[in-house]
Amino acid sequence: MRTDTLPTISRHDYQPYPYQIEKVRLEFDLAAEQTLVRLAFRARSQDGQIHPMVLDGEDIELLEVSINGVTLTAQDYQLNEQGLTLSPQQPEFDLVLVSRCRPQDNTMLMGLYVSGQNLFTQCEAQGFRRITFFPDRPDVMARYEVVLRADATLYPYLLSNGNLLSSTLLEDGRTQAVWEDPFPKPAYLFALVAGDFDVREREIVKANGHPALLQVYCDRGDGDKTEWAMECLEHSVRWDEQRFGLELDLDRFMIVAARDFNMGAMENKGLNIFNAAYVLADAQSTTDASFHAVEAVIGHEYFHNWTGNRVTCRDWFQLSLKEGLTVFRDQEFSADMLAKGLDGAQAASARAVKRIDDVSVLRAAQFPEDAGPMAHPIRPESYQEISNFYTATIYEKGAEVIRMQHTLLGEDNFQAGIREYFKRHDGQAVTCDDFVDSMDSVYRQAKPGHSLEQFRRWYQQAGTPRVQVSLQHDPATQTATLTLRQSNAPAGIENKSTPKPPLHIPFALGMLDQQGQPLTLHLDEHQGDTLVLDFTEVEQSWTFSQIPDAPVLSLLRNFSAPVRVDYYRPDSELALLARHDTDPFARWEAAQLLASRLILSAASGRAPSAAQLATVVQTWHALVQDPVLSPAYKARILSLPSERELLEQTQPMTPRAVVQARRQLQRELGLALTPYWQELYQYLSLEQAPYSPDALQAGQRSLRNLALNYLLVAGVNTGTQLARNQYDQASNMTDRMGALSALVNYGDAQDRQDGLDDFFQRWQDNPLVLDRWFSLQATAPGTQVAQVRALMLHPAFSLRNPNRARSLIFQFCINNMQAVHTPEGYDFWAEQVIALDKLNPEISARLARVFDNWARFEPEARDPLKAALERIQAEPGLSGNVAEIVHKALTL
Ligand code: TRP
Ligand code: ZN
Repeated sequence: MRTDTLPTISRHDYQPYPYQIEKVRLEFDLAAEQTLVRLAFRARSQDGQIHPMVLDGEDIELLEVSINGVTLTAQDYQLNEQGLTLSPQQPEFDLVLVSRCRPQDNTMLMGLYVSGQNLFTQCEAQGFRRITFFPDRPDVMARYEVVLRADATLYPYLLSNGNLLSSTLLEDGRTQAVWEDPFPKPAYLFALVAGDFDVREREIVKANGHPALLQVYCDRGDGDKTEWAMECLEHSVRWDEQRFGLELDLDRFMIVAARDFNMGAMENKGLNIFNAAYVLADAQSTTDASFHAVEAVIGHEYFHNWTGNRVTCRDWFQLSLKEGLTVFRDQEFSADMLAKGLDGAQAASARAVKRIDDVSVLRAAQFPEDAGPMAHPIRPESYQEISNFYTATIYEKGAEVIRMQHTLLGEDNFQAGIREYFKRHDGQAVTCDDFVDSMDSVYRQAKPGHSLEQFRRWYQQAGTPRVQVSLQHDPATQTATLTLRQSNAPAGIENKSTPKPPLHIPFALGMLDQQGQPLTLHLDEHQGDTLVLDFTEVEQSWTFSQIPDAPVLSLLRNFSAPVRVDYYRPDSELALLARHDTDPFARWEAAQLLASRLILSAASGRAPSAAQLATVVQTWHALVQDPVLSPAYKARILSLPSERELLEQTQPMTPRAVVQARRQLQRELGLALTPYWQELYQYLSLEQAPYSPDALQAGQRSLRNLALNYLLVAGVNTGTQLARNQYDQASNMTDRMGALSALVNYGDAQDRQDGLDDFFQRWQDNPLVLDRWFSLQATAPGTQVAQVRALMLHPAFSLRNPNRARSLIFQFCINNMQAVHTPEGYDFWAEQVIALDKLNPEISARLARVFDNWARFEPEARDPLKAALERIQAEPGLSGNVAEIVHKALTL
């Protein structure tokens, strides 16, 4: 761990590695306490000259190093905390290196580590250097042959990337497995797994007619919970074949679940390693939302096989090249799965549900990031710790930037662009520019006179653009003129003073008449229900013809760009859109805006007028009774915007006021519409088909749980009884959890305690469900710091397991705004950042980020938050990860 400020790495300083390494041979003598690693490769200078060879290495012990068979002595190399520098005498040479690492002591979960009884690796971004000395950078690609040796009883399965060449029992009683990965790859995609597992297998036939073996590994005893994962994996293979024309390029594809894991999952070539939370699922123990999360993450990692592995990143500044594109692909996969078998408006509404969920995440996580001290473009210019740049901006905004290219090109041209990308770059480590070049070559052909030149600014500029809208209608000429004005305020600490040039924004627009009927738009030679405007100037106008009366604008349909829209219009217009807009996303958005306005004005101390409240209630009334909307969509449109999305819109941010104002509107809606919630609840309680996580059933369950929540929050006395019954009779986790969370959040103390005790009794042996038990308590309105501290003393709590730390500590700090925004709350946060930092700096840095936006809060929060940050900064031995965050937060 480093104490002083880390060096800053800049994108423009990129230098290719001077040596080429074609083939790597790695031998492991595996054991939890210590593992010996023997590395051998032949290096060849790229330019024929002799250069020093810099090998990264961290927290590992060098035992021996030789060049061309001659053992080096300490005078022959330089060894420090960051690695090893050799001074070869020839431009081409054979290197052999033996080193030791200690998996058992590895609490960072980067490199080779122990989880349960098993051994796992995590190498992205810079974990390989914790396994052996190597040029640990994505543009150094080699073919790997891997030999694994370990105790046969402890580690009956020995896995690595690619194909299994042999598996033998050694004379000393250990087993040995030899693996070969035919594809050159960077070190961050290396993986090994050793241990004992349950395995589920499925043979499939690929589109090219060849067979492939799919395998899902998990802890012994969990094997009955991998059926859904296998199903999702096969769906992913099929989807990539059908929609992208991309086939599985291996004979064997493995997924392994680990209980201890820093993030969601990892796309190691042919051997994906997952957080068990994104593999294991069954009706009894898993909610619908988690079933869908498993589907999304399995898709995501599988899709990386092409977008990330076959074509990888030249350097880590290009991270969004693989992550933005792969998130876009997994979002489309999930949307296609939801819309399967539907068409027309029904399919559109099913896909909109996914879009709504994705945009909510973007607004709750990425918009604040883009407005805070860690703001960065999707292709950053500099960083200190790359692990701090696995952000909502790189992933989620990155996906939006790909989606905009998809919108500009259309599906067919986008797919042509993808084919061009692989034609040019298969097997290479490339840049974001290379990707846009491929898309641009197709775009220029399809739209002569146009290019993606201006569009590239999305890769350079941080910050969420604002688009101001104005409308002029002229009854005499029957025209409507729309004017858009964009401002791209500088964000964060980068380039504070430089004004930013305009972006190329695809702006999707529709119009309704005053009765809510859709209008056909006529613009030059274009016409349609929705038009996508190429908005490229600071201010730009479009005039639409054949519009007799002043229209109602349906703006940024399907959220066609990651921007904020400012448009003043009366509540009545939003109410009209919420009832009639044909674009399901914009329709949802109108309802959200209507509710947000009311909540935000209440939060700022202006009591909403009776008329304002009546408009919201009437709109919710109309929506709750709408006979056409799908249950899943209805559940979204009848929900209030999340606390975090609302908070993001207050200035300064007033968390406690937002929570109260939101709760107040929830109560009003619960009370005003009680009979409708009751009726909805009863109606949705009728059907009892066998459990399936499909869109229809999941939608029904989420709508039923929403109705239950409205009844409880409003204090309707039948509500509690309904919740108790639902809890007792539940046949699946969505129903059980829905009832329990309603009771815990809105019930009385007795119901709350009974529910939590019963739940613990039932599920104490299932760690993923126990995580929910901790989360529920962490976020309950009554929970204070003292209770969280008490829960940390529970025998089932451990700071070392990231899922557990997230379920209690992160949930409390992020989602219990009432309790965390207190002096005790801030103390607790700082204390936990410091405690976690000693074990796992990557996880700690994420907790540190929770209040990096301290300066945007109201004064009574700002000062103590700043003091808490300073306390973290003053901690001796702070990791570089946390130091970077805290430093940036304090030097606004
Ligand atoms: N590349 C992985 C993904 O997006 C995520 C990842 C990056 C990761 N760094 C990690 C996972 C560290 C675990 C630990 O799919
Ligand atoms: Zn990814």
